[in-house]
Amino acid sequence: MGEGERLDVRKTYKLYIGGRFPRTESGRSYLVCDDKGRPWANACRASRKDVRDAVQAARKAVPGWSGATAYNRGQILYRVAEMLEGRREQFVDQVARSEGATRRAAADAVDKAVDRWVWYAGWADKLDYAFPGRRPAPLGVAAQVIPWNFPLLMAAWKLAPALAAGNTVVLKPAETTPLTALRLGEVIQEAELPEGVVNILTGAGATGAALVAHPGVDKVAFTGSTEVGKAIQRTLAGSGRRLTLELGGKAANIVFEDAPLDQAVEGIVNGIYFNQGHVCCAGSRLLVQESIAEPLVDKLKRRMATLRVGDPLDKNTDVGAINSLAQLDKIQELVASGEADGAQAWQAPCELPARGFWFRPTVFTHVAQSYRIAQEEIFGPVLSVLTFRTPDEAVEKANNTPYGLSAGVWTDKGSRILDLANRMRAGVVWANTFNRFDPASPFGGYQESGFGREGGRHGLAAYLDLS
Ligand code: NAI
Ligand code: MG
Repeated sequence: MGEGERLDVRKTYKLYIGGRFPRTESGRSYLVCDDKGRPWANACRASRKDVRDAVQAARKAVPGWSGATAYNRGQILYRVAEMLEGRREQFVDQVARSEGATRRAAADAVDKAVDRWVWYAGWADKLDYAFPGRRPAPLGVAAQVIPWNFPLLMAAWKLAPALAAGNTVVLKPAETTPLTALRLGEVIQEAELPEGVVNILTGAGATGAALVAHPGVDKVAFTGSTEVGKAIQRTLAGSGRRLTLELGGKAANIVFEDAPLDQAVEGIVNGIYFNQGHVCCAGSRLLVQESIAEPLVDKLKRRMATLRVGDPLDKNTDVGAINSLAQLDKIQELVASGEADGAQAWQAPCELPARGFWFRPTVFTHVAQSYRIAQEEIFGPVLSVLTFRTPDEAVEKANNTPYGLSAGVWTDKGSRILDLANRMRAGVVWANTFNRFDPASPFGGYQESGFGREGGRHGLAAYLDLS
């Protein structure tokens, strides 16, 4: 059997509302492309009426789901995890082909999604223990809007805590990756989640905007661009409805001269080239101590030259496809601005497939802090290298962006790690590693990277009234 054949993909997809898969009321649909940029399937553009129907179905399901014995809720969430695990290969293919992620990255993301469902399933009947002395109560209907990177994992990050806490949900996946969410919808239906507890609306920004503005929604959770995050914040201002935002980043990965350099190079590569750099917490700025800048960048380039870019479904691929033409355009535009500003680009000399959207792993040296490639989120496999002399200078440069999602520190000195972690404005700081995730640890940003935390008990609190 060919690798692509494992996945059964229909020509047309519907919405998931009230436990059924209805057509969109508007009759409007749009074309979804696969990892090679080829036409793949049609998805619905959910209308305002569909939004009303979905929110109504979610509202109707609140008393039953929030009143269900918490033990029962946990059991159902475990069942979702088990079924996802049982269909692991299908979901790996689905994620790889819709996102453009490599098979390896997709497999990792599917496993992490399963972990998240399991971890939150365990809390469903222990909410009183999670928040001793409080009386945790669900908020009601949550609207959740997610991006196209990690389409199954982001759905798990959003759905699992909301459901464990007794809320019902309307989920809006990104326009380029709706099929992963709908396949999850099939699992949710088969796992016998009561109808209306989870509803899925596909469509673009207009569908998302109509959903978050609906007065029947009690809580909004969003992951995506800072621009849209700000628009949602304006929509909700003064409404008293709860909001968490997980937005972009421009993480500093800081390497001191006493760091284990080979290990650091692996961390740098994993930090920025993993998942084509389509990662909100990607280590897109390398801050390297001046004394080792040259040897480190040389080592990095040698390692980059071994990266294979190409077919996501080929198990030897390290860097897969750029998610869409629009994203490729954005990456190219920012890279051109870096060159025009005077930075020096170096690209891994790899071959690219003829058809589809690809971008070579790229590293920029001679970067000034004011350049756009040092300030803006590129969301692609592009690294900007800056240097520093002292720890103070490293902290100052690390904090010199509008963002504050994540950071990394590489050094042999424990005391320096603790010192830097305290002084960097970043929600997550990794030490001698990068891009590590655990369902028990909270994740989220400062400043333009958003507010609120996902993961851990913090992530549950975001879906509870704790008065
Ligand atoms: P986006 O922020 O427009 O899309 C994210 C989600 O929000 C999608 O589901 C989209 O349909 C929805 N959406 C769009 N406009 C909306 C609105 N007005 N109200 C409610 N929902 C809305 O991100 P896009 O356009 O896909 O990517 C643009 C840039 O954003 C990327 O190049 C990247 O820099 C950044 N981005 C960051 C992500 C992160 O995880 N931090 C994820 C995706 C994008
Ligand atoms: Mg957009």
